[in-house]
Amino acid sequence: MNHTVPAFANDWIVLKFGGSSVSKRSRWDTIGTLMRRRAEQEDARVLVVVSALSGVTNALQAMIDGHHDMPSLRQQAEALVERHAGMAIELGLDVEPVLGARFAALRALAVDPRSASAELPWQAELMAQGELLSSTLGVAYLRTQGIALEWWDARESLRAIEQPNASEWAQHLSVSCDFMGPLARERLLAKPERFALTQGFIARAADGDGTAVLGRGGSDTSAAYFGALLKARRVEIWTDVPGMFSANPRQVPDARLLSRLDFAEAQEIATTGAKVLHPRCLTPCREAGVPMWIRDTENPDLAGTVIDGQAATVAGVKAISARRGIVLVSMETIGMWQQVGFLAEVFGCFKTHGLSVDLIGSSETNVTVSLDPSDNLVSTNVLEALCRDLERICRVKVIAPCAAITLVGRGMRSRLHRLTEVLAAFGRERVHLISQSSNDLNLTFVVDEALADGLLPTLHALLIESNAMPIDETAVFGPSWRELGVPRPPRVAWWQAERARLIQLAGRGTPTYAYHLPTVRERARQLKALEAVDRAHYALKANPHPAILRALEAEGLGFECVSLAEVEQVFEVLPGLDPKRILFTPSFAPRLEFERAFALGVHVTLDNPALLIGWPEVFRGRELTLRVDPGFGSGHHDKVRTGGKEAKFGMPLDETVAAAASAKALGTRVTGLHAHIGSGIFDANHWREVYARLASVADAIGTVERIDVGGGIGIPYQPESEPFDMAAFDAMLAEMKAVFPQYALWIEPGRFLVAEAGVLLTRVTSTMHKQGVRRVGLDAGMNALLRPALYNAWHGIVNLSRFDEPPGEPAEVVGPICETGDVLGRRRRLPDATSEGDVVLIADAGAYGQVMASRYNLRALPAEEILE
Ligand code: LLP
Repeated sequence: MNHTVPAFANDWIVLKFGGSSVSKRSRWDTIGTLMRRRAEQEDARVLVVVSALSGVTNALQAMIDGHHDMPSLRQQAEALVERHAGMAIELGLDVEPVLGARFAALRALAVDPRSASAELPWQAELMAQGELLSSTLGVAYLRTQGIALEWWDARESLRAIEQPNASEWAQHLSVSCDFMGPLARERLLAKPERFALTQGFIARAADGDGTAVLGRGGSDTSAAYFGALLKARRVEIWTDVPGMFSANPRQVPDARLLSRLDFAEAQEIATTGAKVLHPRCLTPCREAGVPMWIRDTENPDLAGTVIDGQAATVAGVKAISARRGIVLVSMETIGMWQQVGFLAEVFGCFKTHGLSVDLIGSSETNVTVSLDPSDNLVSTNVLEALCRDLERICRVKVIAPCAAITLVGRGMRSRLHRLTEVLAAFGRERVHLISQSSNDLNLTFVVDEALADGLLPTLHALLIESNAMPIDETAVFGPSWRELGVPRPPRVAWWQAERARLIQLAGRGTPTYAYHLPTVRERARQLKALEAVDRAHYALKANPHPAILRALEAEGLGFECVSLAEVEQVFEVLPGLDPKRILFTPSFAPRLEFERAFALGVHVTLDNPALLIGWPEVFRGRELTLRVDPGFGSGHHDKVRTGGKEAKFGMPLDETVAAAASAKALGTRVTGLHAHIGSGIFDANHWREVYARLASVADAIGTVERIDVGGGIGIPYQPESEPFDMAAFDAMLAEMKAVFPQYALWIEPGRFLVAEAGVLLTRVTSTMHKQGVRRVGLDAGMNALLRPALYNAWHGIVNLSRFDEPPGEPAEVVGPICETGDVLGRRRRLPDATSEGDVVLIADAGAYGQVMASRYNLRALPAEEILE
C-alpha cells in the first residue's frame, strides 16, 4: 500500500480490543477488517491496542499469588506456553519463529530468583507477558492477512508518572502515565507506519527501564493515553456490549443505549456503577479533546456510544446506576450542636483508618457518610476500629449493606419538581441518605441493598421510558437492550391468522375492539386445569361484554363484581344464574348497593369493619366475606397495587378477628376471607404468601370455609416476555392447600381470561416528522385505550395493512386527543411506508380496554365485535 504520511497529527484512529476480542481467529479477522475499513474509508492511520488473551492475566496473577512454589510456577508457565502455541496454530502460524523468544522470557520469569519474595518489578514484568504474547501473535497473523503493520512496544511511549504519595505497590502495579509529554508525542508522531499494533496495560516504570502495569481497566486507559499522545481522530473501545446503557441491562432489559454523551456524563456514569469503561480511562481523551467510541465486537455495525466534548447539552436523566456494597456510617452528635471542630474530628477518624468518604448528608445533629466498597473494608475489622474511635465523640450506627442509586444527567436541579413519582417510589422504602452533587450531574439515593434490584426497573420506567424528564430522544438514546437482543421466537397470536378478517372488520369502521372467543375459552380451560383451585371466577371489570360473560359461564366460571351495576349486568346477560356464583367485592360503594346485593343473594365482601357499626341492619343475620389487606401489594404499576398501607382496600390482617367478632355480634357469619393485592403479577409466591397470611387468621375466626386469593395473574404484553407459569402457580397453591386443607380455594382473575383475546383496530390518520421525531397518528388514542397513558403500559402495535413489510424507523404512535400524553407506544418500528388509511392493530387490549374508554374530546366510543 502506498501511503505518504500526512503532516498533521489527527490522522490516527486508535482501536482497542479486549481479551475476548483477541482470543479467536474470527475475531482477529474482524480486527483486520476494521483496520482496513478505517484506513480506506477515512484515510486514517490505525493503531490497535490489545489486551491479553482471555483468562491469561488471571493466570499470571495466580502465578504471583503462588510465587513461593517454583515447580508450580514452571508448570503454570508451561500451561501458558501451550495456550499461546495453540492459538498460534489456530491462526495458522509457525509457533517457534513467532513466539519462541516470548516463551523463553516467560520461562525465565518462572525461575527468576526474584519470584521467591515476589519482588514488585518481577510481578510487573510477569503481568506484562500476556499483552506481549497476544500482541506478537496478532501482528504475525495480520501480516499473513496482507496488512503491513508494525509491532510497537508500548513501553517506548508510555512512561509511568512518579507519584510521591503512591505506595511502592502502586508505583509498579497500578501506575498512571504521562499522556501530555511532548517527547513521547514527537517520537510517536514521527513514526512512518500506517498500521501499528501495541499492548494495552503495560508501560515503562517511572524509576528506570523496568516494566510497570496500569492496574484495573488498564487496556482502555492505555488506548486513551495513545489517543491523547497521537491527538487521534478518535479512540474506539471494542468490547462485548453495544455501548453504555441508561441502566444495567441485566436488571433493566428496557435500558436504552446511550448514543451520545459528553465526557462529564460518561465519567459520572462510569464512576457510579457502569462497568463498560473504567472511570480513569476518560481523563486522557477528555483533556486532549479526543472523542471516544464504544463499539460491540460481536455487532461491528451497531453505532454504539459516542463520548465527546461536542455532545449537545440536553437536560434530563440519562442513566440510572447502582452501586452495591455501600456502608453507611451515621453519627449522631450528643448535645454538640454548632460545636466547632466536630466535623473535623469526625473526618480525622476516617483518615486515621484509611477510609475514603464518598457521600455526605448532614443535619444539625446527625452526619451520615457513605464508604465505598473496598477490599480494606471487607477483609479487615477497620470498621469496628473506626466505630470505637468515633464513639468517643458521637453515637454511631453502621447501616449495611446499602446500595447507592444514582440518577445521572445534566440540569437535574431544574427538574427536581418532576421527580415526584420517583420520590414516591423511594418513599415506600427507607432512604438513608440523599445527595445531590454540586456539579448538577447526579442525584444519589442510598437505600437498603435488597431494595435496589426492585427499584431500578421502576425508576427507569418512570424517568427514561416515560416522559417524566423529556429529553430530545434521538440525540441521546439509541435502541433498548431488549430491542438489540437476539429475539426469541415470538409467540404467535391468534390475530396473525385472522389478518384478512380483521382488515375486513376495520372496513366497517374504526376504532373497533374485536374479541376472539376461542382464546377466551382456552384461557378459561387453563384456569380450570389448576388442581388446587376449587372455584374460579371472572373479574368482569376487565371486560363485561355479554358474549364474553356467556362464554365464560358456559366454561363453568363464576363472576366477581365490584359494583351493583356489574352484578346486574351478569343477571341481565345470564338470567337465572345461581346467585351463589357471583361475588360482590365493593370498595366504598354506597349503602344501597350492599342492600341490593344481599337481596339478590350473591356473596358479599366487606372490606371496612366500620360499616358493621355504622350500618348494622344491612349486615345483621347475613353471610359475609371479609376482605383482608395482607400488608403488602404487588402489580405492574403503583396504581394497581391494592395491598399495603397506601392502598384503600381491605382491613389490616390484625383487625380481621375483631371484625369477625363484631359480625358475630350481629348474628352475621363470616364464611370467607378474601384478598386481592394487585394486578399484573408474575411471581406466584405472592399468592402463596397471601393464602398463608389469610389462613393464619381464618382458624381464629372459626367459621371460615373458603379463602379467595383474588386475581392479578399477569399476561406477557411484550413479545419477549415469558407467559405466566401456570404449572408453578398450581404447584405453589397446592403446597399451601396441603397445609390448610380445611379451606376451599377460590380465585378471581380478570386480565388473564380476556386480555390476549382482544385487539383494538384503528386506522392511520396521518404521519409526521418533527425535529427528528417520526410520529404515526391513529384515529384512536387514550380515549379508546387508556392503559399506555395511565400506566406507561406496553401494547404491541402492528400495521396489519403492511404486515409483511420490514420494520422502519422508530416512531411514536399517537392518537387524536388533545393531550401530550396521548401516546400509545414509543419507538415502534412500523414500516416506513405506513400512511393514511392503513389498519393498525393494538394487541392484548381485551382487558381494561373498552371499559376504561371515554368520550373525551367527544370522540365516539370504539365499536365492539365478536369473533367466534
Ligand atoms: N379482584 C379484585 C378485587 C380486583 O380489584 C381485581 C382488579 C381483580 C380481581 C382482577 O384483577 P386482574 O386479574 O385483572 O389483574 N386497569 C388496570 C387493572 C386494574 C385492576 C383492578 N382490580 C390495568 O389496566 O392494568
